[in-house]
Amino acid sequence: MPETPPPPPDQDPGKVAEIPVELDRSRIPTHVACVMDGNGRWANQRGLPRTEGHAAGEIALVDAVDGALALGVKWLTMYAFSTENWRRPADEVRYLMGFNESLLMRRRDELNEKGVRIRFSGRRDWRVPRRVLKQMDESAELTKKNRRLTLTMAFNYGGRAEIIDAVKAMVAEGVAEKNVTEKALRKHLYHPDMPDPDLVVRTSGEHRISNYLLWEMAYSELVFPEVLWPDFRREHLYEAVLEFQRRERRYGGLET
Ligand code: FPP
Repeated sequence: MPETPPPPPDQDPGKVAEIPVELDRSRIPTHVACVMDGNGRWANQRGLPRTEGHAAGEIALVDAVDGALALGVKWLTMYAFSTENWRRPADEVRYLMGFNESLLMRRRDELNEKGVRIRFSGRRDWRVPRRVLKQMDESAELTKKNRRLTLTMAFNYGGRAEIIDAVKAMVAEGVAEKNVTEKALRKHLYHPDMPDPDLVVRTSGEHRISNYLLWEMAYSELVFPEVLWPDFRREHLYEAVLEFQRRERRYGGLET
């Protein structure tokens, strides 16, 4: 057994973190995308099955949403299941399908009350069980009029798959070669109205993109906090935004 780990933050008697005073409220990233990494390691450290790490990640997800709402972030995208995650052990895949389904059932009303629009990005016509699709559709339908924050769950999502699907759609439409432009391709992504992420946060200290938002991430600022996803709380989001505000974005140009 590993050494006794610290209690998870949700059991701490602590309070909700305040937005740091040094955070510039006039320079909040419009779109933050997260890779919720480290659930398995968090569970291992506690001698628990990996699935318990995913379960503990739900509190982190909800707290990240609350942090985004407090900051006024308009778009939050979460990597919940990748097109490559089907390669994980069958038990874990089955668990993750059921977990995502039940998470939506548990959380959609409170998210709706908070003004969150829930959307999904990914391949819906490939391998996802029908009952999961049903919960996805119902959650999207319930929350479709909300505009305070758009929470996109990247589910059965792959960046390369998204680009391939866009190219296929263009070919199917008979788009002429001269019309194959960045603007035209963007129009065929899963959510053409979604702005590119300004900030991408991958937890657990791994410095990888893992096939996430490949097209959209071209000029995103990347931040890699060491914290494992189940321990992620809004203060980590605030820290990441502070780091974002210290960076200087040039988009290939020169300092102005
Ligand atoms: C990418 O790393 C990470 C993801 C696709 C996130 C997966 C997240 C979960 C399974 C948990 C979801 C949790 C909640 C609370 C909904 P990777 O492991 O696919 O890629 P890698 O092999 O390059 O590390």
